Amino acid sequence: MPPRVPTVPLPGGGGIPQLGFGTYKVAPEQAEGVVAEALAAGYRHIDTAAMYGNEREVGRALAASGIPRADLFVTSKLDNPYHAVAEVGPAFERSLDDLGLERLDLYLIHWPLARSTDYRATWAAVVDLLATGRVAAVGVSNFTAEHLRAVIDATGVVPAVNQVEINPYLSQEPLRALHRKWGIVTQAWSPLARGRVLTDPQVLAVAHRLGATPAQVVLAWHLDRGDVTFPKASSPARMAENLGALDVAWDADARAVLDGLNRDERSGSDPDVVELDGGRR
Ligand SMILES: NC(=O)c1ccc[n+]([C@@H]2O[C@H](COP(=O)([O-])OP(=O)(O)OC[C@H]3O[C@@H](n4cnc5c(N)ncnc54)[C@H](OP(=O)(O)O)[C@@H]3O)[C@@H](O)[C@H]2O)c1
Repeated sequence: MPPRVPTVPLPGGGGIPQLGFGTYKVAPEQAEGVVAEALAAGYRHIDTAAMYGNEREVGRALAASGIPRADLFVTSKLDNPYHAVAEVGPAFERSLDDLGLERLDLYLIHWPLARSTDYRATWAAVVDLLATGRVAAVGVSNFTAEHLRAVIDATGVVPAVNQVEINPYLSQEPLRALHRKWGIVTQAWSPLARGRVLTDPQVLAVAHRLGATPAQVVLAWHLDRGDVTFPKASSPARMAENLGALDVAWDADARAVLDGLNRDERSGSDPDVVELDGGRR
């Protein structure tokens, strides 16, 4: 990890580089090149998922980079069709094989699928993966407070991480407060609201005042809140621009402006809607 990226401690030990690189919607035919460029730009934390269909290409870029495995932080996720307890181990092994890795740093349940699967049992099966020694930490994604309570009550094991949509239009304060209470690391997906917040007049005004770009201002807000995040970008220029969030001369006024933008508006899917049949992703 380039030394200037801070590390957020994980409850079970170790830590996550706070600013990583996301790979959703990076097409397989582009993924090896894009991830190679991200690694060259300085990213050491790569967020992928079986659902994204690009684990093989991401793995090839990791291998070709020559970067020591210990310097990389790689996350993947359990895809929706494999929630049954007997399917979890094989799905995890497929992700490792596709990525060409001996172990993952973090493995998450991608969506709770609370009405179409027994997600408490799925969580117990994911927790059992820790005993293989092939994953350092396990967690969840898109879990609401209700889902978190249910898996903790059922297993006594608190997820290390909950990866949820967060951006200035969806600040998720109540859920983040619960995370803090339970010691769960918050990961923010779609940190730029897939570009939607970048033309907000108030974001533009802060960017102008601080001499930064809108994306840098939004990412600096995430970093100031202490969340882990991983914007996706297609060009080396944007990859470098986004890492520049670490150098923004952030201040309390900027924080107050961005905190004020929340309108509880999603740009991605609602976890209470995504299900095995008929749900959106
Ligand atoms: N757990 C989950 O369910 C879940 C769901 C969604 C996402 N994620 C993870 O979170 C990552 C990030 O989320 P996301 O990809 O949905 O959205 P995002 O990072 O908020 O936004 C990506 C979009 O912003 C654009 N962009 C990036 N940097 C920019 C810049 N400096 N200036 C202007 N535009 C810029 C990108 O364009 P170009 O690509 O054209 O550069 C892309 O269209 C994903 O890649 C994935 O790893 C997880």
